[in-house]
Amino acid sequence: MSANLPLPVAHAPGASQAAAGGPPHPSWPAEAIRDAVAPLLPGFAVEVLPEVDSTNSELMRRARAGRAAPVLLVAQRQTAGRGRLGRDWDSRAGAGLTFSLGLVLAPTDWWGLSLAVGVSLAESLDSRIRLKWPNDLWLDDRKLAGILIETATAGPAQRYAVVGVGINLDERPSTGLSTAPAWLGEVRSDCEPGAILLQLAEPLVRTLQLFEREGFAPFKARFDARDALRDRAVVLSDGTSGWARGTTGQGALRVETERGIKALSSSEVSVRPRA
Ligand code: BTN
Repeated sequence: MSANLPLPVAHAPGASQAAAGGPPHPSWPAEAIRDAVAPLLPGFAVEVLPEVDSTNSELMRRARAGRAAPVLLVAQRQTAGRGRLGRDWDSRAGAGLTFSLGLVLAPTDWWGLSLAVGVSLAESLDSRIRLKWPNDLWLDDRKLAGILIETATAGPAQRYAVVGVGINLDERPSTGLSTAPAWLGEVRSDCEPGAILLQLAEPLVRTLQLFEREGFAPFKARFDARDALRDRAVVLSDGTSGWARGTTGQGALRVETERGIKALSSSEVSVRPRA
């Protein structure tokens, strides 16, 4: 298991509450998404929930209970959305697009999966979007979207991957955020969440399947072309400073420090441009 892929984490407080039921919002093109993805992933389903604690938490609970079918779970509102490093993800209804894709995945090496996902999302959304290693999509040095990948055991020698994505669609307050927010409405006039999800879903599944077969290699040049930190002065959460020098063949971030090149691969380390 790669250090770049967090192990399954404990539920956040409140995550044990049941997902809310109810009919999906009519504007979600659930059938069109299913039709686009099911040929790639037999048995694939799309579920839209008016409210859930966290789409990641919900799919992790299901996987641990033996439910490992491929599914795209969308929430109109999350009451306990989670980000990396134990952070919260603000998920008020209407402010963004929040979903998780769950599927059995068996790459030889998990390194670089979040980078490949970022490449897929950015390429689907807009040419101006940059990727901030390892899990963020940035617009002009502000955070547009985040990715949270977790895995659960799904049977003998099988892992179920939960790829959670939160994208800001509309303006949101920067209160309490370490990086100022960006929103998709800044670069696109069409920010209808259903249409965006339809645009993202099939390329994302293709990305995961390509990653499963070939690892990070097919994504490296594409990531590097959008690398928001490339050749910039950076500081790491452990206090080290240096210069970001692109990625290794496996998706670790190369940072040139006083002591030479350091390859960062831990999901527990965060990095930001030096002020
Ligand atoms: C991060 O920026 O640290 C990652 C944010 C990931 C947020 C998404 S929203 C859908 C899914 N459910 C969650 O609770 N988190 C992810």
